[in-house]
Amino acid sequence: MRKTFPKSGADWTTLDAAMSEMSEGDVDWRQGRAPLYVFHGSDAAYDVGFQAFMKYFSENALGGRRAFFGLKRMEDEVAEMGLDLFQAPDGAVGNLTTGGSESIFMAVKACRDWARTQKHMNAPFNIVAPFSAHAAFNKAADVMDLTVRRLPTREDCRADVEAMAAAVDEGTIMLAGSAPCFPHGVIDPMQELGDLALERGVWLHVDACVGGYVAPFFQRIGRPIPGFDFALPGVRSLSADLHKFGFCPKPASTVFYRFAEDRERGLFHFDQWPNGQFSTATLSGTRAGGAVAAAWAVLHHLGEAGYMEIAGQLAAMTDAYVAGIKAIDGLHLWAEPDLSIINFGARDFDIFKVAEGMDARGWLPGLTQNPKGMHAMLSMFHEVGRADYLQDLAASAQIARDAQDESSASNLKAVY
Ligand SMILES: Cc1ncc(COP(=O)(O)O)c(C=O)c1O
Repeated sequence: MRKTFPKSGADWTTLDAAMSEMSEGDVDWRQGRAPLYVFHGSDAAYDVGFQAFMKYFSENALGGRRAFFGLKRMEDEVAEMGLDLFQAPDGAVGNLTTGGSESIFMAVKACRDWARTQKHMNAPFNIVAPFSAHAAFNKAADVMDLTVRRLPTREDCRADVEAMAAAVDEGTIMLAGSAPCFPHGVIDPMQELGDLALERGVWLHVDACVGGYVAPFFQRIGRPIPGFDFALPGVRSLSADLHKFGFCPKPASTVFYRFAEDRERGLFHFDQWPNGQFSTATLSGTRAGGAVAAAWAVLHHLGEAGYMEIAGQLAAMTDAYVAGIKAIDGLHLWAEPDLSIINFGARDFDIFKVAEGMDARGWLPGLTQNPKGMHAMLSMFHEVGRADYLQDLAASAQIARDAQDESSASNLKAVY
């Protein structure tokens, strides 16, 4: 039956209890039982983000220029800190958005308008990307009437630059690479992609949405992270989410452009309506002021030292997960993770049967369909349950191995 509109008001105590009851069946994400959707760096960073968000709970970042000058300054400073982190040259610009999909959307729009106006290209346009690129490229392409050519990745799950080069034609406006890609957690060969972009006169967008705010700190603690940012001359735009491994509250992402003119191309300007000039650098109009303030506060709270400390903890934890998974008979990593995203499968039995076993034990399984595997973005939520996870994984793998002859394949489907 359809819910009716409430007749009278209710107090917070009643509402709080009702909401908690609704969420009783939720996955226990605080104990690391969700392999995606939520991220944790430190309790102190969480508190700072929460306080800052609440301080600017009502303000609207859309009004930054005319009313909320503090927020505007915070937004500009967050973008400048990102430009510094990603080694952008003088003249580069950036801004906040509400998420990775929106950051990618804005970069694709800027690129499309560059192709139209600077390169005098005519549609149909295409984007050439590895199979592992995020679905957000297809979402942007769908809205803007472009196509995405997805090329199989190499054995190590990184972009096959030769295959991508062969797919570039007169309609190609953009190459996309990920740092790292969501499915396998590895960084694409960005130097080669950048060289290809320059050679063929196309735009390279680096999708560092998931790992952008942690990869530089993995580098600084001595992990072998390949270059992926504006230090590479072929990189024209880059997206990086604050609300993932930047450990800031949702919704917050950043998008950066090597040339200020490129962001101009991404902007939307309109004044043929009653209220006059309307300009935004995002798809959204109204944006949560709290998310801008929280990003500013968390970046300042953690600083380089704080992010390096968390990077050290993440790296050690990921190593322990990887070692634990490799020690389970029949399981293997599809790719050696560059950061803390893992993807593993089984050659001799159905890995989705293992996922079913994990599901039954209260772990929401992350799945990949090609290659068939299990997937997790490990943040500091995942330290507390590590021993239990590995124990349950070993037990689930054993059952899947033993059952391989008698049982049919799992009916599970990979869902994001
Ligand atoms: C590599 C990558 N790009 C883009 C996105 C999209 O980000 P959002 O969900 O914030 O729109 C994600 C999300 O996980 C991602 O991992």
